[in-house]
Amino acid sequence: IPVDPFDLVIFGGTGDLARRKILPGLFRRFCAGQMPEEARIIGAARSDMDDAAYRKLIADAIKEFGNGFTFEAATLNAFLERIGYVAVDATGTDGWAELAGRMRDGTVRAFYFSVGPSLFGDLAERLHTHGLATDQSRIVVEKPFGRDLQSARALNATLAEHFREDQIYRIDHYLGKETVQNLMAVRFGNVLFEPLWNAQYVDHIQITVAETVGVGGRGGYYDKSGAMRDMVQNHLMQLLCLIAMEPPSKFEPDEVRDEKLKVIRALEPIEPHHIVRGQYSAGGDQPSYRDHAENPRSNTESFIALRAHISNWRWAGTPFYLRTGKRLKARTSEIAVVFKDAPHSIFGVDAGRHRNVLAIRLQPNEGMTLDVTIKEPGPGGMRLIDVPLDMTFADALGDEAEEVTDAYERLIMDVIRGNQTLFMRGDEVEAAWAWTDPLIEGWKQRGDVPKPYDPGTAGPDDSMMLMHRDGRRWRELK
Ligand code: BG6
Repeated sequence: IPVDPFDLVIFGGTGDLARRKILPGLFRRFCAGQMPEEARIIGAARSDMDDAAYRKLIADAIKEFGNGFTFEAATLNAFLERIGYVAVDATGTDGWAELAGRMRDGTVRAFYFSVGPSLFGDLAERLHTHGLATDQSRIVVEKPFGRDLQSARALNATLAEHFREDQIYRIDHYLGKETVQNLMAVRFGNVLFEPLWNAQYVDHIQITVAETVGVGGRGGYYDKSGAMRDMVQNHLMQLLCLIAMEPPSKFEPDEVRDEKLKVIRALEPIEPHHIVRGQYSAGGDQPSYRDHAENPRSNTESFIALRAHISNWRWAGTPFYLRTGKRLKARTSEIAVVFKDAPHSIFGVDAGRHRNVLAIRLQPNEGMTLDVTIKEPGPGGMRLIDVPLDMTFADALGDEAEEVTDAYERLIMDVIRGNQTLFMRGDEVEAAWAWTDPLIEGWKQRGDVPKPYDPGTAGPDDSMMLMHRDGRRWRELK
């Protein structure tokens, strides 16, 4: 279904995110027929360039970052006709009048701030002083949204001077992933799981987001962030919220976000011995983290494992184990809900220990498995084994699974539609920082040094110990 006609201005229009994600995503939506005839996209950045040069830049980006997406040359040309460019000085006055002149009345106006947060205030202010922003305009801002509670508050306050909360779309691209949204469908669309979804039946929950890539060329940014700020404060906490929140009364923006916020606020502070930081060493022909970061003494972590507790009626006593890291053994993101043992085994101790596990694979090879205990076939008596009920979306859904949209495509279309359900609200972001700040501060004060780990492993041994101490273990990374 096509969205309403729109003018979308992308500040930072020549940047990495615009070229890798935003424009290729918009092109795929165009190919899917979702972009109306009257849609216009305007790149805005510092460099001097005309429309034709920008179109060429975008055409090249679509070819380079299209991920094998095939299309006719004529389709690309039709898309490019909707694209223009204006050179704008974000901190001065140049270019703003021209940009204002390109805006049309009666269309949705969205401004994507694909720039560093230090420019958010300048952009927000100029959108008003040059008459670009209307009462209905939307702004889209990227992570990182601040680097601690104080800076996030300051950013929220700056944006609030110029825009209402319902005009501000804070992106966490994990919320745009098909499988992440599916978490809500699984929990709240089935009668099967919800009655068991609590401390009485769930032993613990594991959330893993493992990557095989290192920090590569992003060392400069990453070294100031680390896994805690880069992944845990946003993506992993969002996953935790979706898995732990109470059922919202409706799938509406504030209903969903209110419930997520309650989870974050109910998180207990973490004890230092319930958190493990790691940093990858050199291995194979790949440099170490410190080489990547060009900082031989860096104590920034590229791996985190932690045990969190949610102090509320539903989850009291159930640990949530979170881990994420770079240069690990496999690229895999999954959430595993490990249920408790049956209260009594009628088969005696020889039957061993068996547990139901619901594992939701977010990426790659998206799908779900539910480990069920059954009788091991054969004449050997009542021996039990666990076998998975296994569903990969590709098998179950065939062609429909192929149509899975990239997170950015979906989120940008939601901005145009005016749907904030999959965007973070200001108070959510602040609450998340309020939880992570003391941990980060604690490392700084103690001069904490991350544990080295070999690339291609599951992280430092201490991460295994975090689980072993509790009589549990991480699921294998594969
Ligand atoms: C980004 C982080 O937000 O998410 C990166 O800054 C990380 O460090 C990336 O690699 C992971 O996203 P995805 O979609 O590849 O799982």
